[in-house]
Amino acid sequence: MITKIQKINPRKTLCLLLCVFTFLVFTIQSNAQQTRKESFNKNWQFHLNDEIENRDSISNNTSWRLLNLPHDWSIEQPFDKNSPTGEGGGALAGGLGWYKKNFTISKNNQDKLTSIVFDGIYENSQVWINGHFLGKRPNGYIGFEYNLTPYLNFGGENELLVKADNSHQPNSRWYSGSGIYRNVWIKTTDKLHVNQWGTFVTTPSVSKEKATVQIAVEVKNDHQKNKKATVKTIFFLGDKEVASTDENKIKISSNNKQTLTSSINISKPALWSVENPTLYVALTQIWSKGKLVDEYKTTFGIRSFRFDLDKGFILNNKQVKIKGVCLHHDLGPLGTAVNTRAIERQLQIIKDMGVNGIRTAHNPPAPELLDLCDQMGFIVMDESFDIWEKSKTAFDYGNHWEAWHKKDLEDQILRDRNHPSIFMWSVGNEVPEQWSERGAEIGRELNAIVKALDTTRLVTAAMNPPVHVTDKSVTIQFEDTADKPNALAGSGALDIIGYNYAHQTYAKHKTNFPNIPFIATETTSGLQTRGYYEFPSDTTKVWPVRWDKLFTEGNDDNTVSAFDQVRTPWGSLHETTWKIIKKHDFLSGFYIWTGFDYIGEPTPYVWPSRSSYFGIVDLAGFPKDVYYMYQSEWTNKNVLHLLPHWNWDENQMVDVWAYYNNADEVELFLNGKSLGVKSKENEDLHIMWRFPYQSGTLKAVSRKNGKVVLEKVIKTADQPAKLKLSADRLEIKADGNDLSFITVDITDEQNVLAPRANNQIYFSVKGAGKIVGVASGDPTNHESFKGTQHRALNGKCLVIVQATEKAGKIELTAKADGLIESTITITTKQ
Ligand code: GAL
Repeated sequence: MITKIQKINPRKTLCLLLCVFTFLVFTIQSNAQQTRKESFNKNWQFHLNDEIENRDSISNNTSWRLLNLPHDWSIEQPFDKNSPTGEGGGALAGGLGWYKKNFTISKNNQDKLTSIVFDGIYENSQVWINGHFLGKRPNGYIGFEYNLTPYLNFGGENELLVKADNSHQPNSRWYSGSGIYRNVWIKTTDKLHVNQWGTFVTTPSVSKEKATVQIAVEVKNDHQKNKKATVKTIFFLGDKEVASTDENKIKISSNNKQTLTSSINISKPALWSVENPTLYVALTQIWSKGKLVDEYKTTFGIRSFRFDLDKGFILNNKQVKIKGVCLHHDLGPLGTAVNTRAIERQLQIIKDMGVNGIRTAHNPPAPELLDLCDQMGFIVMDESFDIWEKSKTAFDYGNHWEAWHKKDLEDQILRDRNHPSIFMWSVGNEVPEQWSERGAEIGRELNAIVKALDTTRLVTAAMNPPVHVTDKSVTIQFEDTADKPNALAGSGALDIIGYNYAHQTYAKHKTNFPNIPFIATETTSGLQTRGYYEFPSDTTKVWPVRWDKLFTEGNDDNTVSAFDQVRTPWGSLHETTWKIIKKHDFLSGFYIWTGFDYIGEPTPYVWPSRSSYFGIVDLAGFPKDVYYMYQSEWTNKNVLHLLPHWNWDENQMVDVWAYYNNADEVELFLNGKSLGVKSKENEDLHIMWRFPYQSGTLKAVSRKNGKVVLEKVIKTADQPAKLKLSADRLEIKADGNDLSFITVDITDEQNVLAPRANNQIYFSVKGAGKIVGVASGDPTNHESFKGTQHRALNGKCLVIVQATEKAGKIELTAKADGLIESTITITTKQ
């Protein structure tokens, strides 16, 4: 038999080999990457019980509820005047909760490392795997992980048990939420791997032409043998490779780690800025014996910055005023259970107002918030503590300070230091130690902890006030401290002086601290109820009289006027502080208290109020009027906003304010008749007309050089007649997480918003979604946020629907007695 011998074509063979090689590398690469971290949120069992204290009794307990994480059990509880959390904590219950998850891990993973990663559990968590105790973590805001490998039954059943103890109350000055309220991940890596938070990318020199990027990689060898490894990092902009490090060979002994630092240059780098927050990715690869064993992605940005004593904050050689807001971590009606879309919506709403900065008051935030700040372009002050060793409430972090503060702070810096959006670390908020030498000592210790891990950013603390106040016209929060010098501010521990309030002292900053730059860590604390107004609008109310005095004035229904006319004694009206910050270049910027209303701390009131009045945006996400003052100042979009609404008593004396920009003047017309032309003068941030009310149509026209820029009309509403629904997004992902935020407007027959309507709204849903939250922005409403009905506030209400994992249509209907109902359809897509 003759065998036909085919001629070998060397070119074809090479091609084929290359293809096979690329395929193999690709498969190996994607495997290493894919399996590294997977969501571990689904199918947990939950039991809320203050009685069961120990693991053995809970193990025999049979009443478990099936749920998916993230989960906040407090938000499901009824508001209660006598709740041990107090109204400061939102008048919702804490308690003791248990979570359990049964799962299997493939036998193929026997030689790998398997860890469980918790982004945060509130609080005092303890974790067991198959009866083995893994550890505890008192701090409710820090992320941590445990190695499960030695205790797993590969191929068999495993049980993870978590105890979250939020039963010791009060332990917080705001609503904390309870339980496994952040994401949980299972991490699988080779035993030779990049360590937890094991990379640090810095940019030692940055110009338009070239950036030097440095990456330190901590490689860990969890094998029983010494190992040789090759470490390489490839840098990407989008999917384009822009540079890579050399292949570095290292030897690591068993159970040891080693850090390897490399530098590369990127020419013509795309800089990260507030307007163009460009992100790069560093893909670190660990190779062993020619095999890719681990891949680790680090997202980073290239930017240069400094805080200048004269010019304030300089980003990429350009002066940028920090126009920031403080945010607590709750997501209004969703409680504290992390949902990326809900965080994104909050950030979008305040970005539209012109905000460019976020302070994470007063704790390490969810990782998703920082990712979004990187992507959307915010200047973040990442804060660690509200408490050092001296407690503010009986069971707070002060009780854990000594044992945990070093570890907690280190972990926060390690976790967060690659985020380009972070520019400052705040190591404390209004700590009582600030007036004593002990405060200076702790401040220096904390600065050293941070600097050992990150020298690229500034350390601050939010002090009240940092200056020695001798001027009696300056109202400060803690009056008994007014005569004492602030030891922390004078300690040299802080790279930038952080002012909480005391805006009257800002202009003298350069005299008081000639060598340290300025940031207002927290300002304003104005108070408002959305859509509620009092006349005259130009008298200022200081509510409460003092922070520690019971507030007895105020309105019977616990409302606060939404004209910018009510403030706390330590704070200011919104316009006051912004005028000062705006005036001086050396004032690098400020973080207003607060961007959004939050649950808890209902200053100036107590029960029946249960959530804050400080927000520029209310708890449902509806802007209060002052939002538009900032928008007119901070954005280029044309703004013309009129307040109040137009439903008053005939002939009653009323004030009408307009916030506007990009125009020289505004003319106001009532039922077609001009009430005069007004312009902002000098430092004015609004204009005002005062006249006797007449129902009908109020129209404002803004003009520039005689040309109309905008027209705004508000009309007197007739009786409430119908409901109108509008969704922030009509199409969402069918992934079990995504949300559509649906606004209900109560209108009259002619579609005019009924600005005083507070009808009870009933919701029902059909199809591929469920209702996960209802709210109106009313701080006194005691209906559950998790119900399917809610009383509207001043014409508006919100319902949040969440997609299931099955693509389809969600049909949401809103009804109210005597009003025409309305239905909206949301499409969910795979
Ligand atoms: C500050 C404090 C904030 C909040 C605020 C209310 O003193 O830092 O957490 O309580 O007052 O005005």
